[in-house]
Amino acid sequence: MPSEYYHLFVCTGTTCEHQGAEEILQTLQNELKQNGLLKKTRTTLCRCLGQCGNGPNMVVYPEGIWYGGLGEGEIKQIVVEHLIEGKAVKKLIQIPVD
Ligand code: FES
Repeated sequence: MPSEYYHLFVCTGTTCEHQGAEEILQTLQNELKQNGLLKKTRTTLCRCLGQCGNGPNMVVYPEGIWYGGLGEGEIKQIVVEHLIEGKAVKKLIQIPVD
């Protein structure tokens, strides 16, 4: 079941920026808007999350799920499967949650 509200932390640290963080941020904002999720989400930009080798990275709360290796397609998949359908995208999780 999807959460009532999501807080998304998108890393825009130097390494993630070089790996395409600005592009995925733009895709995320477009997808949130197109899917009517702007009032159900808050997006916060953050500096290095300490997972540079897996970037670009994003953490989704309330579950605290760390996604990495993100591109446009992965962001679209997370928006649909995680934020709308309430199911984490397991293949994109970088740090497993118990
Ligand atoms: S710059 Fe994003 S995890 Fe380090």
